[in-house]
Parts: sequence; structure tokens; C-alpha cells
Amino acid sequence: MGKSIKIFDTTLRDGEQSPGCSMNLKEKLQLAKQLEKLNVDIIEAGFAAASPGDLLAIKEVAGVIENTTVASLVRTHKDDIDKAWESVKGAVSPRIHTFIATSPIHMEYKLKMSPEAVMDRAEEMVKHAKKYLSDIEFSAEDATRSDVDFLAKIFTRVINAGATTINIPDTVGYTTPEEYYDFLMKIRGKCPALDKVDISVHCHNDLGLGVANSLSAIRAGATQIECTINGIGERAGNASLEEIAMVLNTRKDIYPYTVNIDTTQIMRSSELLSSITGVKVQPNKAIVGANAFAHESGIHQHGMLSNKETYEIMTPESVGLSENKLVLGKHSGKHAFNDKLITMGYTLTKEELAEAFTRFKDVADKKKEVHERDIDAIVSRQNVAVPKEVELERFVINIGNTITSTAIVKMKAGNKSIEKVSTGDGPIDAAFKAIEKIVGKKLKLEDWSMDSVTEGKDALGDATVKLREIGNENSNVYIGRGLSTDIVEASVKAYVNAVNKMIYEEKQEEQIG
Ligand code: KIV
Ligand code: ZN
Repeated sequence: MGKSIKIFDTTLRDGEQSPGCSMNLKEKLQLAKQLEKLNVDIIEAGFAAASPGDLLAIKEVAGVIENTTVASLVRTHKDDIDKAWESVKGAVSPRIHTFIATSPIHMEYKLKMSPEAVMDRAEEMVKHAKKYLSDIEFSAEDATRSDVDFLAKIFTRVINAGATTINIPDTVGYTTPEEYYDFLMKIRGKCPALDKVDISVHCHNDLGLGVANSLSAIRAGATQIECTINGIGERAGNASLEEIAMVLNTRKDIYPYTVNIDTTQIMRSSELLSSITGVKVQPNKAIVGANAFAHESGIHQHGMLSNKETYEIMTPESVGLSENKLVLGKHSGKHAFNDKLITMGYTLTKEELAEAFTRFKDVADKKKEVHERDIDAIVSRQNVAVPKEVELERFVINIGNTITSTAIVKMKAGNKSIEKVSTGDGPIDAAFKAIEKIVGKKLKLEDWSMDSVTEGKDALGDATVKLREIGNENSNVYIGRGLSTDIVEASVKAYVNAVNKMIYEEKQEEQIG
């Protein structure tokens, strides 16, 4: 096998900064642990100087990751680099990633700096970072619209100053595969020092070419690819990790390189991210879309029955999609449940297992058959749960097509039980309004959606709500998820989950100050 290609995941940084994808501390930790299971080589955990909360999150990620390199992104400013070091110094394998823009338009209008000053700053800051650690990545932001001779000069200087990875990003998603190949080959020709370090690429997807450009870069000598789960990221997103990993695995004849990704963890990583952010992937998304392995046409199904390879270039199992096997029922005990979790690749602590088993029993009571997808939904939801400051005790709703819906909701808040009544435009609206009265907050429901986890009339309903606080201009959007065979109950649980996230984050912000 040829050289090895490092996968640098930036879901927690470039991904997290895209609209609707922000994550709280618990969610970042959960995702980071999953990225380690996926076996990425580098986890970019955040932008250290963005806020004290971001710095803390990187620090916490650095503290729980056991083998993978943890990177912290910062501008080429002395204070920022100090913050980056503060955030990753606890990691087993820390990296500082520093960047400055190099294109004429960015240098003139954004940085208001001359090319000479940009070059001096880059060199000086790499030297500063080098005082802290050896693993330093330097990025030339907007590289694909930069002058090749200028890039060759700045790269030579930062490599001599100690940079060990040079990233040549297509920040605005402008280049094309052929152009990028030629561009990278030209830079390599003009900067022989690049042969001593890792060449990284970071391709945005504005023209839908993020993955194609990354693959072209590998052929031009790149040894590190920056990408995100489900392709999330600024604007149209970044190159999608799962697509790159599966191209490299499926087409070894064209790309004879070693890649460390455990592809069987792809589906779980994609689902966990969607579950955290509430941003679902389109059904026809390559690799992780609901239809990616579905064969609908009669001719295709006939072919598949004779020989799967007629229409299947990779197996669903290779990305971790299991057949949706019937696994357990309401008589299954804790042992059987735990055994099943282990075969599905989950390792839960004693407390997590106890909670998952209670949730499983709750589902199994209402649903005769519990499938692997139900278990995935139960466990992934629980893992990203925040402390339950408020908890649903019960609700009763009176509905009909000729009356106004009325909901009575009782919830536990601390050691008090509070009950409130509200009318509303339908049962869900009435219940949401009653919860608002209980928690004493004015909330705006930005979005509500319902999916089903499996097929069948007793399928689990999977509700997602997005809400923000009215009157608080700094309010984030909080995403709540709820599962139940009853869609009103699933919605109420999702709403309560979002409220708990809001309270959790408010407390975190107070603590950080
Ligand atoms: O798109 C980009 O150029 C970036 C850099 C900061 C690496 O995200
Ligand atoms: Zn980017």
C-alpha cells in the first residue's frame, strides 16, 4: 500500500461555526469521542480565541481524547496563540493550527496589511507557537486565489520557522479539480521545503467540488485532507469526510493509499451529528443518505437478487449500516440488552446502562418489537442529554375538531412539582404554552419536525424542536429531541429537552463569566 493519508476532521470547528450547527459542551465531547472511534487522525476541536466557552470546550476535548491529535485553530496573533496552547496543552498529542489570509483581496480589504507584513507575521507567530510545541499547522487562507510565488515564499519561511503541516485551502470553494492539481504541483515546484512536511487541503463546497478537489489534491501530493461529517461547514459546507473515506476505500485501484478511518463507524457518526444539531442529511446524500443503499427500480432489484454487485459498489455493512434487525422485546432483560449494546459497538457506564435500560423498557412496553435503529435512537439521545433541570411528570390534553385544544402539563422543577394549563392552536401548541408557563420563559418555536425511526404503525416518533428565548437578543437556538410512539409525547419531550439545554448553557455561561 502507498503512502498514508491523514484525515483531519473539522466538524467541531468549521462545521460547528455554520448556521444551525452549534453544539454545547456535552455535545462536543460526545462527538469528539465518536470521532476518535471513527479513527480520524486529527480532531480540530474549535477556535480557541472565539470565546471563553470555546476555549473551555477545546480544553475538555483535549482532556478526554486518548490517542488522536487535538488541534486548536487561531489567527496569527500572539494572544490567540497563547490561548490555543492553553486549550490543547492537556492533550496527549496537541497541535496549534494558525492561519492568515494570503490572497490580494483578503490582504488589502480584510487584513489591510502588505504582503511583506503578512509574511513577517506568519513567520513570527509560527516561531512563537514553536516555543510551546512541535506540531504546528499553518494555513494560507484563500490560498487558491493567492499568487503562487507569494505562497511559495511564505511557505518556505514558515516551514523554516517550524511549521510541520502546510494547509493550502480553497476557502471560497472556487477552484476545480484540474486547476487545483496544477496549482499544487506548481507550488511544490517552487517550494521544495514542502516535501519535508505534510501538505494539507481544506476544500469548501460552494461549487459542489469539495470532495473532487480534495481527491485531486491527493494525486498532487497532499497527505492530509480536512473535512467534516455530513459535509457541514461554512456556507455550502466542507468536503464530506464519509465521501472521501469511501472513495479511498472503494477505489484503491486509483487511490492506493492507507487511510485509518474505521468506515463501519460512519453511519453512527453521521447520525450522532444529525441528532445533536437537528440538521438531517438529504435522502439522496452519498454514503449516509436514507436512500444511499436503497434499490427501488424493479430492474435493479432483480439484478441485486441475482448478484449484489450488479448495482452495489460498496456494502451497507462497510459504512456501519446493519440490517434493521429485530433484536429485543418487552421481556428482554438487562443482560440481553447489554449484550446487544456491546455487539452494536456501544460501551456504556453502569449508570448510562441503567438509564438506557429504563428508556428501552419504556419503548418496549409500547412497541412490541424493538429494532437496532430504535436502540441507536435511544442510546444516542441519552448520550447527548444534559442535566434535567425540569422534567415531565405527566400531561393531559383535550382535543377535538370543534373545540380549542387544552393541555394540562405537570413538571418537576428542582424539588417542586408545578402544574399549568394552557389552550393553544392544536395539542402540541397547547402543551408547549403550558411548559412555557411552568419554566417562566417566553419562548419562540423556530421549527418543529417529526420523523419515524423505523417503518410500521407502532414506529417510534422522533421529534425535533428548535426554540429561542424571546427578549434575549443573544439567545442561541436550542435544539431538543424527543422519542415516543406517541407523537404529542415525543414533541413534549423534545420541547423539554430544548429547555433543559437552554438552562444548561445559561449556567455554563454564568460559570465561565
Ligand atoms: O476555509 C478556510 O480557509 C479555513 C481556514 C481557517 C483553514 O477554514
Ligand atoms: Zn474552512
